[in-house]
Amino acid sequence: MNIAMLGSGFIGRFYADSLQGYRSKDKIVSIYSRKQESAKKFADDYTVAFVTTDMEAAINRPEVEVVCISLPNNLHEEAVMLCCKHNKAVISTKPLGRNASEAKRMLEAVEKAGIFNGYLEDLVYTPKFIKAHESVKNGALGRILWAKSRETHPGPHSDWFWDIEQAGGGCILDLGCHCVEITRSYIGKDIKPIEVMCWADTQVKPIDAEDHAIGLIKYENGSIAQFEVSWTFRGGLDLRDEVMGTEGTIWVNSFLRTGFEMFTTGKSANYVAEKAESNTGWVFPVGDELNELGYNHMFMDMFNAMENGTQPKETFYDGYIVNAVLDAAYASAKSKQWEPVKLDVWRGKTGLSQDQHLTDYDADHYLVKEEMTHYGAKKLILKNKKTGKIFEKEIK
Ligand SMILES: NC(=O)c1ccc[n+]([C@@H]2O[C@H](COP(=O)([O-])OP(=O)(O)OC[C@H]3O[C@@H](n4cnc5c(N)ncnc54)[C@H](O)[C@@H]3O)[C@@H](O)[C@H]2O)c1
Repeated sequence: MNIAMLGSGFIGRFYADSLQGYRSKDKIVSIYSRKQESAKKFADDYTVAFVTTDMEAAINRPEVEVVCISLPNNLHEEAVMLCCKHNKAVISTKPLGRNASEAKRMLEAVEKAGIFNGYLEDLVYTPKFIKAHESVKNGALGRILWAKSRETHPGPHSDWFWDIEQAGGGCILDLGCHCVEITRSYIGKDIKPIEVMCWADTQVKPIDAEDHAIGLIKYENGSIAQFEVSWTFRGGLDLRDEVMGTEGTIWVNSFLRTGFEMFTTGKSANYVAEKAESNTGWVFPVGDELNELGYNHMFMDMFNAMENGTQPKETFYDGYIVNAVLDAAYASAKSKQWEPVKLDVWRGKTGLSQDQHLTDYDADHYLVKEEMTHYGAKKLILKNKKTGKIFEKEIK
């Protein structure tokens, strides 16, 4: 693929490392950045032929097959509209929009233009997520009851993130977008998110947006998702997920302290991992960040889908759903009430009732619980279907 990269900052460089470092047949052929010197530096580092500070000029080139948006949140919509105008496939970083209205306009525009669109939600492409999700899909956890995702770190690396106008929000939007898509994927992307309850506050930073939040998302089938996000967490990048089902549990720790621990006096202090706060003493490096953060599997899916004429796992539609859930989170943080997820576009199941799964013990009883005790007795707790009486029975 010949790629136009819009943005030469933090994520543009992570993407470029992944794009050109692994598949090797993909090439960034055009780079747009706000400042000439950073565009030029990027072009030198990644041997990019065309360098510009004009966004449209970067997109509108015959050799460009796909445009990769790595720009601040307030510029995503403008970039997407230019891709539609010039009929170029587009893949965009997260969050798709600053809110659901922006995301919906982008979704409608790409679909009207008939161009390939991919939503770059890397955290549903991490090796651990892929494996865990496969187990969930195969039924290893039974019916999913609760899924939690946590992303916290000491705060973003560029000024615009901290400006509510450019960023569109604080940690709910910046980090919550990952958590929503992770938990939504475990619960089932065809299950409708219906309402959100969220606490948010600005506990530490001198900003207008929230720097810490916790939210609950109710799904139509009765499952519940939970997100924990913060820009005030100390100690690095904490990425953890938990999934609980009727038949099992998964705990995933994706980044900090995942089996690689190193002590250094700091003699040759070096980069440790994204958002690491120290490079001396005991440190927790990450072996291959491009892979651990999902970038490689993500681009493989995107470009394979483009080549095969299919849809990638994550599209602008998913980005729009995520934005709609987060809009409800902001509304709830303000109203302190459960707030509905307003979805003008919904392509999943509708009219589901809450799942009821009662386990029969025999014709007259439900099984409540079965347990082997430390004193050697096996106990059954049963409920009489007619009388409703609950009683226990010891089995020899
Ligand atoms: N894991 C992830 O998926 C992930 C991680 C980090 C950032 N992001 C997303 O990537 C996008 C860019 O974030 P980043 O961390 O690369 O930011 P950054 O500040 O490091 O880079 C932004 C780039 O946009 C360019 N730019 C153009 N116009 C600009 C303007 N008016 N103000 C500021 N920059 C301008 C800059 O030149 C720079 O190259 C954001 O949407 C962010 O949410 C995603």
